[in-house]
Amino acid sequence: MGNDDLLTEISNVGIVPVVVLDNVDQALPLAKALYAGGIGCIEVTFRTAAAEEAIRILSEKIPEMLLGAGTVLTVEQANRAINAGARFIVSPGFNSKIVKYCIDNSTTIIPGCATPSDIESALELGIQVIKFFPAEAAGGLDMIRAMSAPYANVKFIPTGGINIKNLNTYLSFDRVIACGGSWIASKELVRNRDYEAIKKLAREAVFIMLGFEMQHIGINMSDETLANQISIVFETLFGFIKQERTGSFFAGSSIEIMKKQFLGKNGHIAISTNNVRRAIYYLEKIGVTFMKETALYDKIGNIRSIYLDKEIGNFAIHLLQKSN
Ligand code: 3PG
Repeated sequence: MGNDDLLTEISNVGIVPVVVLDNVDQALPLAKALYAGGIGCIEVTFRTAAAEEAIRILSEKIPEMLLGAGTVLTVEQANRAINAGARFIVSPGFNSKIVKYCIDNSTTIIPGCATPSDIESALELGIQVIKFFPAEAAGGLDMIRAMSAPYANVKFIPTGGINIKNLNTYLSFDRVIACGGSWIASKELVRNRDYEAIKKLAREAVFIMLGFEMQHIGINMSDETLANQISIVFETLFGFIKQERTGSFFAGSSIEIMKKQFLGKNGHIAISTNNVRRAIYYLEKIGVTFMKETALYDKIGNIRSIYLDKEIGNFAIHLLQKSN
């Protein structure tokens, strides 16, 4: 996997849990808890002596996890992290020696940047994805927006003060590819070996990030005339305004009446999400498959709708991009 592919995967996961391990034996159960909670990414910080060995164990035992080393402050630590199996290196500040070392060793480096000068140093070395740190204290999303304006291709992984409440604020900006933070696997939960709580927090974060909601139900009709009549009934009885679309009529925004027999024995259910791309990634990891031929894209090529392969309760199910 190349560096760009790895960054794309991190962006698909959307959340980078930053962890501090006191003991090497915490590494595997912690990573498994995150993975089971839907987060296949972990940044093990070099703040404790356990980091290097923890990375070695994780890289051997759970290779499906996107494994990074964080709080890397020296070239020597970067070297140890890479040899132990870290696939990406994160530093709190911009350190050109570390950046160059990682580039020379074909390892993804996400350096911390908090100012335009930091960003320009990163750009000079060909780095376009940076950790915005410390995100909340350094001005939050307003700062990212302002700072990103002159640098068209720079993408951000804000970290520092991010939690379940402000996660989506950051992710709603398309220049933010993921958020990092310690709120899912806090020092306290790790110290108490409360892996069940960590799994729950991971799951909570994933569902908040994806924001799944029932959007509309689709009724299959055999022809357009009937579909039109049905939509008029909904409008007459309930005031759900009829709107004609290419293959259907909508009655209000929650009922779609198809002009011909369409997918789903009983019709279909549209589940909206904050990000169809991330939703597909998450669902595929847990075994869901999709009808690729049903995918629809927006003008800039982002996927906005796709049907799952299998029906649920005799309804076809499709994901639908929420409008921002
Ligand atoms: C880091 O090392 O990236 C930060 O300490 C994480 O910040 P947080 O603890 O505020 O999430």
